[in-house]
Amino acid sequence: MAHQHDVLVIGAGGAGLTAALYAAHRGADVGVISKLYPTRSHTGAAQGGIGAALGNVEEDHWEWHMYDTVKGGDYLTDQDAAEVFAREVIDAVIELEHMGLPFDRLPNGKIAQRRFGGHTKEWGKAPVHRAAHAADRTGHMILQTLYQQSVKRGITFYNEFHVLDVIFNEEGRAIGVVALEFATGELHTFQAKAIVIASGGFGRLFKVTSNAFTLTGDVQAILYRKGWIPLEDMEFYQFHPTGLYRLGILVTEGARGEGGILRNAQGERFMERYAPTIKDLAPRDMVSRAMYLEIKEGRGCGPNKDYICLDLTHLDPEIIEKKLPDIAEFSRTYLGVDPLKEPIPVVPTAHYAMGGIPTTLDGAVIKDGQGTEIPGLFAAGEAACVSLHGANRLGTNSLGDLVVFGRRAGLAAARFAQANTFVDLPPDATGPARELIEGLKGNTGGESPFAIRKDLQETMMENASVFRTEELLEKQVGILKDLFERYKKVTIEDKGDRYNADLVEAIELGFLLDNAEALVHSAKNRKESRGAHAREDYPERDDENWLKHTLVYREAPGKVRFDYKPVVITKFEPKPRVY
Ligand code: FUM
Repeated sequence: MAHQHDVLVIGAGGAGLTAALYAAHRGADVGVISKLYPTRSHTGAAQGGIGAALGNVEEDHWEWHMYDTVKGGDYLTDQDAAEVFAREVIDAVIELEHMGLPFDRLPNGKIAQRRFGGHTKEWGKAPVHRAAHAADRTGHMILQTLYQQSVKRGITFYNEFHVLDVIFNEEGRAIGVVALEFATGELHTFQAKAIVIASGGFGRLFKVTSNAFTLTGDVQAILYRKGWIPLEDMEFYQFHPTGLYRLGILVTEGARGEGGILRNAQGERFMERYAPTIKDLAPRDMVSRAMYLEIKEGRGCGPNKDYICLDLTHLDPEIIEKKLPDIAEFSRTYLGVDPLKEPIPVVPTAHYAMGGIPTTLDGAVIKDGQGTEIPGLFAAGEAACVSLHGANRLGTNSLGDLVVFGRRAGLAAARFAQANTFVDLPPDATGPARELIEGLKGNTGGESPFAIRKDLQETMMENASVFRTEELLEKQVGILKDLFERYKKVTIEDKGDRYNADLVEAIELGFLLDNAEALVHSAKNRKESRGAHAREDYPERDDENWLKHTLVYREAPGKVRFDYKPVVITKFEPKPRVY
């Protein structure tokens, strides 16, 4: 079946819905393709808050927020992006409130704000209350609010459609998309004047992750496979310090924002040693490394000394029940631990990709280090890399990113659509997607996607997670080569058309492998430690050689090429990063 929209958005999380709303507001006819029913998108899993210098609890300024974002990103953050963000996120939060988002309130009626990691006042002096929140369900509330607005605006949704290809014409303009309808197995074509990618991250690369099953980096991989579109800064992958032990389910940083403390087996508040000024509210890369070191040095908790304790037992029970109800429930349900009475066992969990599809401040996708734009193609949210987060994202800045840069991408896409006409899709636009499906259905005698994915996730965790070395990354390059070979013969049992979850898993596994390749090669290439990229063999940050963004291109499977893009520095010269 063929469809046509002025602006086509891929993904119905916070970035996709914001882009869709703003494009529609500019008069565009908008379609949204989503793998899921929109309100199940992963934005709904974001818990603790959206950071904006509203100053509702204490003095705050957008410049402090910008500074924290740049410092948190270990100076790889593009400072023009950080400035746009820190200024515009204030209005974005107020706009969400006006759309009906039920934020928690202060006694004076203003939006409540809590402390969060790396957010400070007076240029790093002490933590500041900056995270506007709705209990520990902030992302969920944002998603519901944006979806209600989208329905009201009459935006067309294609739910449970899996994008398998993005179509370009000979001049390199993005002109359409091919997607598989889960319910029927039918391939659909979507012709669009402008396309916005907002399909989220790829945390399912790792064994322990806070990410939903659907987070498999599909569109990043689709573009990377083309060979002429790069991915940016893929080596920077964030581990959130507090995932539920063994499961990785997120326990919001808001728990520490409300006063929770991380303790080792000796009961010591060990973050005092690693970040004396802001302690448990240091940025995530630092806290995750500190937790790993405590465990490595034998101070982990439990019979196997392999987790850290998040202690909330000293907090007023009302704070836990009213402000952190979901995480209290998760802890009780999944671990049988009541956080009112005993500490929650936690470990770092794969959480967020700082890297992705490179874009300008208006979401236009670029194809090289000179910033050459690809006509008709835009991206926002975790799938994109506008380089707001640099080498390490601060908590709460992802929700802000979605609404600030989702809005910019939606407006830019609508402008592009107004100025351009539709381009005919090639007669066999579905050809490559059909070939992919037929290839996977035709394989016999190979392994299941599950077996290959398990090995991918386990080895990525061992060799390319929080701490890295040349030896481990080289080992992972070899493992990936082998996994790609095994994937060629991956075999699915269900050969049918309707609701073929087997097929979708196999397709997603292919996308995950591509993202892993880009990540591991980029990590091996960057010979320094910065933010979330901690190389034990290159422990120092090296601004002389590596204050630049990586662009990785696939030349052939297993073979990559690098280009670089300068970091935009406006207000804050790089300094040692201490807290
Ligand atoms: O800890 C959290 O609530 C997660 C928030 C985020 O990733 O920004």
